[in-house]
Amino acid sequence: VDQAALARVLAPIGQARALPQEAYLSEDVFAWERRRFFEGSWVCVGRSTAAGRPGEQTAVRVGDEGVLLVRDYDGTLRGFFNVCRHRGHELLECGGTRSGRAIRCPYHAWVYGLDGRLRAAPRFGHLPSSDPVHEGLTPAPVAEWHGWIFVNASDDGRPFAEHIGSLDELVAPYEPTRLITGATHGYEVDANWKLVVENYHECYHCPSIHPELCRVTPTESGENFEPAGMWAGGSMDLEAHAETMSLDGRSGGVPLPHVGAAARRQVFYFGLFPNLLLSLHPDYVMTHRVEPVSPSRSRIECEWLFPPEAVHRRGFDPGYAVEFWDLTNRQDWRACESVQRGVSSRGYRPGPLALKEVAVHQFLTMVAWGYVRGGPVPPRSEAETSEEGSTG
Ligand code: FES
Ligand SMILES: [Fe+2]
Repeated sequence: VDQAALARVLAPIGQARALPQEAYLSEDVFAWERRRFFEGSWVCVGRSTAAGRPGEQTAVRVGDEGVLLVRDYDGTLRGFFNVCRHRGHELLECGGTRSGRAIRCPYHAWVYGLDGRLRAAPRFGHLPSSDPVHEGLTPAPVAEWHGWIFVNASDDGRPFAEHIGSLDELVAPYEPTRLITGATHGYEVDANWKLVVENYHECYHCPSIHPELCRVTPTESGENFEPAGMWAGGSMDLEAHAETMSLDGRSGGVPLPHVGAAARRQVFYFGLFPNLLLSLHPDYVMTHRVEPVSPSRSRIECEWLFPPEAVHRRGFDPGYAVEFWDLTNRQDWRACESVQRGVSSRGYRPGPLALKEVAVHQFLTMVAWGYVRGGPVPPRSEAETSEEGSTG
């Protein structure tokens, strides 16, 4: 990516420009991002319930890597690269789930314990006890945070706590671990994954494309946070009549018990690099998990989480939250797809960012520093490094 263009992205908000065209179109940039941003970072691969019960095994994809998630009987979650120590067959097809007291390779039936150690190589014959295959499966670092599973396939040793930074204390009152999935929607969007994240991070576009959203939230409201960690985001207020984000502003659920009085009048929008968008409402949490498919295509899994006391109430219907955001999502995807076509044009020049697009700038800064430094760089060290006055 053109270094001079990156320097313009890294300029202070007010002078900063958007990313250059190749960041949205180039197959090389896309492959690099999958390796460095998706394999090389802590990436959310779904809810803990995906490997929730003892013995449950789930294979997920992170960038181009496959990782097997395994829940042991004592509750420990482990991750292993999804490759057998014999001749490299995948232990489980990506996207698949199975349960059992052992991990069994489908090819020649080698058996591993849930701790990854080799237990049996049936009919193999002589296998010296000194052979390194006895070490078993290669571990892949995993972390669980408020009911979500994260994988760092690069095993670069960067602590998860450093990735999350100060986001933890902002999310904790919503107690996402105990929330139950009320609905999920999958979307395929013809836009680069970064355009989806950029669009999420600003409400400058709200008066133009979200009439329903503007009825429940004043678009000029809210403030942005100074993040410590790999995230950006801010708050927006609810209109006086609105209990939550829904078409009529009414909640069909119950307020989350540990969300304070001030936060019950607000919605928080956080983007955790690279792929998890967290929207915290007084009565539900919504997430978008963005998966890059190609430079111009992304898969998005949207999930709505509610407290058990709402879900178990007779006649509970998550529709009030789902209809509202499904409509809003579709308005957003149309805009993102239009921008993808726009940035593909010969006429595209990186444009300026408004001051109210500061969270977009924070995200683009993480991306641009990542390009410069060869991997994810938390925003705080960006401030330190910008004093060097050069993008390397
Ligand atoms: S590749 Fe797994 S048992 Fe042979
Ligand atoms: Fe939007």
